[in-house]
Amino acid sequence: MSSGGALEAGALSILEDDPLWYKDAIFYELPLRAFYDSNGDGVGDFPGLIEKLDYLQDLGITAIWLLPFYPSPMRDGGYDIVDHRAVSPEYGTQAHVRRFIREAHRRGIRVIFDLVANHTSDRHPWFQRARRAPRGSVWRDYYVWSDTPDRFSGVRVIFQDFEESNWTWDPVAGQYYWHRFYHHQPDLNLLNPRVQKEILRIADHWLRMGVDGFRLDAVPYLVEKDGTTCEGLPETHEVLRRLHAHIDSHYPNRLLLAEANQRPIDAVNYFGQGDECHMVFNFPVMPRLFLAVRTEDKLPLQRVIEEMPPIPENCQWGMFLRNHDELTLEMVDPEERQLMWDVYAVDTEARINLGIRRRLAPLLGNHRRRIELMNALLLSLPGSPVIYYGDELGMGDNVYLDDRNGLRTPMQWSADRNAGFSRAPSQRLYLPVLNQPEYHYGSVNVELQLRHPHSLLLWMKRLIGLRRRYPAFSRGDIRFLDSETYSVLAYLRTLGEQVLLVVANLSRYVRYANLDLAQYRGWTPVELYGETRFPAVAEGRYFMSLGPHSFYWFRLEPPPG
Ligand code: GLC
Ligand code: CA
Repeated sequence: MSSGGALEAGALSILEDDPLWYKDAIFYELPLRAFYDSNGDGVGDFPGLIEKLDYLQDLGITAIWLLPFYPSPMRDGGYDIVDHRAVSPEYGTQAHVRRFIREAHRRGIRVIFDLVANHTSDRHPWFQRARRAPRGSVWRDYYVWSDTPDRFSGVRVIFQDFEESNWTWDPVAGQYYWHRFYHHQPDLNLLNPRVQKEILRIADHWLRMGVDGFRLDAVPYLVEKDGTTCEGLPETHEVLRRLHAHIDSHYPNRLLLAEANQRPIDAVNYFGQGDECHMVFNFPVMPRLFLAVRTEDKLPLQRVIEEMPPIPENCQWGMFLRNHDELTLEMVDPEERQLMWDVYAVDTEARINLGIRRRLAPLLGNHRRRIELMNALLLSLPGSPVIYYGDELGMGDNVYLDDRNGLRTPMQWSADRNAGFSRAPSQRLYLPVLNQPEYHYGSVNVELQLRHPHSLLLWMKRLIGLRRRYPAFSRGDIRFLDSETYSVLAYLRTLGEQVLLVVANLSRYVRYANLDLAQYRGWTPVELYGETRFPAVAEGRYFMSLGPHSFYWFRLEPPPG
């Protein structure tokens, strides 16, 4: 069966019929309420997003990951859902969702939504029914209960700045309920076949509208069992396989992208045998990128990438620098975590749970070259990059806002009132716009940066364009080269005849690299930004010098004949 959504979208779309489209995709993550407010109520919405699709198309991204837009009391940025198949009225209607998908497809942009299967809001009708239903009934068993808070002891608490336990007493049920996140987000019981069916119904609802897939929230925690860590259990993988098989047999070219903040060895399990998630966020590599530019030592970064277990043919890592959550340090060693805190969160206000609630530009001291370097790594290391809205402008943050709201402030479109985001009175905005001098919307905004030829935005646009021109970046192998300098990272990305060379200076000082390119004797490196031909590779090593934090992207051209 081919879905109605696909047919409807197909009529207008310029999308290729490619089941592996996500391998070449460049994702853009955005919270709807932060993007553009079309009706002046202070909250971004679907008509607003549709108006701004031309901007995204022009930037060159090819897929949008839209954060939850479902009805929610908004105590966890919308991840606390009360109806997974509805649209929160402030954002628009189901008809708007359909139009948004169609308009995105028309511009060659795919769309994925967030699918939150692990938990609901405690106001969800399922929870209200469960707490009143008799013990042991299927309705009570929609969630996970216990008579004591000792069950599953030893399972870590994730939101440790906010919650002391994963159990909360419910006086109505007369039992404790299980929650891996906030206490107002009870975990669903995925061992209940009815709950599994509900999840498939939710997926079907949006897939029929033509959505290209889902970012699967919090997948390691789906199933819990006594005597285990309650993370990544075989039953959890079973749920994912069932979801994959269901989607595969009903809808063409759809994507499942897993959020699994785990160590490399566990993270790869979410690919299964290519029969679970097509993509998994690369949580292990992310903090090592930040460590690398700070310690100016490439080895820990290189090692984590080299030691990454191989993944199935149809799968791809999701690479990111920042997202809507804190920069998580749960999966790095305690010494590395301390180092990250010492260098990236001197201001303790910036720390939250086991992480850092800052955007990319402030993390990097608003240092243009470092921002460029990090993005160049993001777009040239293996995996499909995910850019967080506003980071293409170098937007700032506000650590004095509650929870992670400081990195979810309105998109800065222009120097106009409310950063051009909304015509509402400014007190009515869902969150205040940034006005600290360094990141003020008067100077950090889309309109200005589109006019300024050397802006970060236009630089990002060129970088994205280059990345898209060379499939070896998205589908190629990686091999690191010896550079004789511990702060100069060098690697080859190869795909068939295409050979790309990336050389990056992590240091704040001038460095040289002496590259072992023996294999490419006679080949000519051509720098991609300027199409500059370098001297051909001769006998011995290939020498080059690099300015502070500079990087080069080359293609290697074989000798003529
Ligand atoms: C995911 C989301 C995060 C949310 C949590 C609980 O980790 O990225 O924003 O708070 O799930 O739903
Ligand atoms: Ca769970």
